[in-house]
Amino acid sequence: MNYRNKTVFIGLFLPLFFIWPGGLFAEQKNIKVKPETIYIQNCAVCHGDDGTGAMPGIPSLIDDRSWAKYPNSELVKRIQNGIQPAKSETGMPANAGNPALTENELLLSLVYLRSLTGSD
Ligand code: HEC
Repeated sequence: MNYRNKTVFIGLFLPLFFIWPGGLFAEQKNIKVKPETIYIQNCAVCHGDDGTGAMPGIPSLIDDRSWAKYPNSELVKRIQNGIQPAKSETGMPANAGNPALTENELLLSLVYLRSLTGSD
């Protein structure tokens, strides 16, 4: 590499590695996010910390586990589209009401939801 190329590399491309969506370490950051944290932050407001429902009108996902027979990939699609009222009057807003929630985060929240027994 001659002097000019080096300058271009260090001055232009090197910073890009760090600035580009989330930076070089974006992948590692995601891995540190715990399924429980995502569930508590995005789902517990309606479904409760233990999945039994935080307020009247929200059906317990523990007493009625009929949703659990569907694979996570199917549940993610349904959550993204919003769940039409069936067991509640309101249904569930598209993407759990948070457009910023990624598919990956939805998957993680489902992993946590599946682990709940209603007693904790
Ligand atoms: C604004 C309140 C609200 C939030 C936030 C919310 N839900 Fe729901 N969810 C509901 C309601 C209400 C229902 C019941 C819909 C019905 O059957 O009428 C439901 C149903 C479900 C079901 C059952 C689906 C089925 O097919 O029967 C699953 C699974 C679920 N929610 C997962 C989640 C996950 C995971 C999150 C967080 C990423 C979440 N919910 C966030 C309100 C919410």
